[in-house]
Amino acid sequence: MLCKSNIRLQLNLFTLLLALIHNGSTLPPFIIKQHDGREILYKVASKGNHPKPFSLLCEAAGDPMPRYRWTKNGEHFNLTEYGNRIIMNSPNGTLTFLVPKDEDEGIYQCFAKNKHGFATFSPLIVRKSYLEGFKDDSIQVVEAVAGRPLKLECKAPNAYPPASVYWMIQTRGSGEIQSIDDARKTVDPDGNLWFISVSDDDVLKSGEYYTCAASSRFRNEYKLGIRVQLKVIHANNEKEEKITPIVQYVSAPSIVSLRGQRTELFCIYGGSDPLHTRVIWKINGTTINYDKRIKERNFGKSLLIRDTRILDRGLYSCEIISDSKETANQSSLINVDVLAEPYFISYPQSIVAIENQTKVVEFTCEVRGLPEPTIIWTYNGRVLNITTSNDNDNELVTSTQSSEISRERLSIVKNKLTIKDLMKSDIGNYGCNATNNLGFAYRDFYLDIVKPQTFS
Ligand SMILES: *[C@@H]1O[C@H](CO)[C@@H](O)[C@H](O)[C@H]1NC(C)=O
Ligand SMILES: *[C@@H]1O[C@H](CO)[C@@H](O)[C@H](O)[C@H]1NC(C)=O
Ligand SMILES: *[C@@H]1O[C@H](CO)[C@@H](O)[C@H](O)[C@H]1NC(C)=O
Ligand SMILES: *[C@@H]1O[C@H](CO)[C@@H](O)[C@H](O)[C@H]1NC(C)=O
Ligand SMILES: *[C@@H]1O[C@H](CO)[C@@H](O)[C@H](O)[C@H]1NC(C)=O
Ligand SMILES: *[C@@H]1O[C@H](CO)[C@@H](O)[C@H](O)[C@H]1NC(C)=O
Ligand SMILES: *[C@@H]1O[C@H](CO)[C@@H](O)[C@H](O)[C@H]1NC(C)=O
Repeated sequence: MLCKSNIRLQLNLFTLLLALIHNGSTLPPFIIKQHDGREILYKVASKGNHPKPFSLLCEAAGDPMPRYRWTKNGEHFNLTEYGNRIIMNSPNGTLTFLVPKDEDEGIYQCFAKNKHGFATFSPLIVRKSYLEGFKDDSIQVVEAVAGRPLKLECKAPNAYPPASVYWMIQTRGSGEIQSIDDARKTVDPDGNLWFISVSDDDVLKSGEYYTCAASSRFRNEYKLGIRVQLKVIHANNEKEEKITPIVQYVSAPSIVSLRGQRTELFCIYGGSDPLHTRVIWKINGTTINYDKRIKERNFGKSLLIRDTRILDRGLYSCEIISDSKETANQSSLINVDVLAEPYFISYPQSIVAIENQTKVVEFTCEVRGLPEPTIIWTYNGRVLNITTSNDNDNELVTSTQSSEISRERLSIVKNKLTIKDLMKSDIGNYGCNATNNLGFAYRDFYLDIVKPQTFS
């Protein structure tokens, strides 16, 4: 969902060819360029900085050339009220915010219209990004016992999108920083730094601190937080320093991940001798075969699944295996469920029908998703209302109220839209919108009806 500025180009050569062939005749509008993601992030320039313009893409084809309009939060977006701050890049409908401001947040939607129909673009959630400073950026002295586990807490600052929090070693004065890349120290997803067991090696040189930092990839910016000076003390009894592995941080026992996103499971244990302890990750009781998509990170203390798939659901376990015969092995279970926003397996293709010759057209929209998506068909932006018919077996037919296509000529069965006894008035822009509670997948297409001589 985040910050996807990928652009979807729906260029269909056949379509463009046709647009050229019957120049001057009919072609309902259809989308050729829009954002792939739902959310568009922007930055408001701080005082004295240059504004960073951003654009909301909206391009359609059609004959005559479509005209565009936008809505913001469901209401007509009147561009003239914004002077030259927000402009539309005619001849297409792309909206450019030259000097973005706080109040530009909202849900925007573009529509393209000509006399043969109109195309509805997907609504875009436009959000301002920000990264606040840490509430606490003091210097603290922490005393820790050698051989014992330790947690250094860090509270992430308010940010949108949420900042990633990490720890590093910072040198006062020079500002020099070093990363922490050490099997005994791991940062959990909340930003806390865990030491498996503290050792004298963890005491830093004078003027160096363990420093918590938060960074925003979108803003290309970071903030520094709490700085810790570590003092290591020794317990009187040497034997006390060897303790069995204890769990420091484990991902929740049941987590829900989204198809296509990253899933990272954590199993951070402490108190043990790191050289003689290792983690084995299993899925449904079987050791995982690592590959490019599924790998260990943080020296085995986390399992990273990239591009999560529905097939990745299952019961994961991390087993902490100790070489020492006296220390018991331990394991934690994490149940992973995977849900999916609707996505297309195949989407309907535009059709050019021949007047009085093509009798029936059929469009198929194949989507998947978890939970199972429901499909809504639209015609020139209006929902083709589905009501169960009593007199017509298993078919779902549309009610006449919301469409100009009469219920007798139109049927919607599962993922198939069929129009029979074609009429000129059926020309227009159609859409397949598959929705579940996580999101929607939308594609538009058109139905055009031309005279036979177009092809002679
Ligand atoms: C848009 O705003 C301008 C200037 O405030 C106003 O004159 C015009 O009537 C508005 N148009 C619409 C459609 O609301
Ligand atoms: C849409 O407008 C932008 C800005 O004017 C321009 O860069 C782009 O090429 C235009 N696209 C088309 C298809 O005209
Ligand atoms: C598709 O349906 C969803 C959920 O009802 C709605 O929020 C979205 O605006 C629709 N998309 C289009 C392009 O109409
Ligand atoms: C794990 O077991 C569950 C339940 O039997 C099954 O649905 C899932 O597909 C399995 N996962 C893997 C990755 O084999
Ligand atoms: C821990 O597990 C390992 C590997 O399965 C095994 O060799 C070892 O005996 C176990 N240790 C204990 C104390 O059960
Ligand atoms: C199609 O049929 C209608 C009604 O019979 C007729 O008016 C029209 O001229 C026909 N069009 C073509 C291209 O044959
Ligand atoms: C669909 O039709 C039913 C019954 O005719 C009506 O109650 C409902 O509001 C309609 N829905 C839409 C989205 O038009």
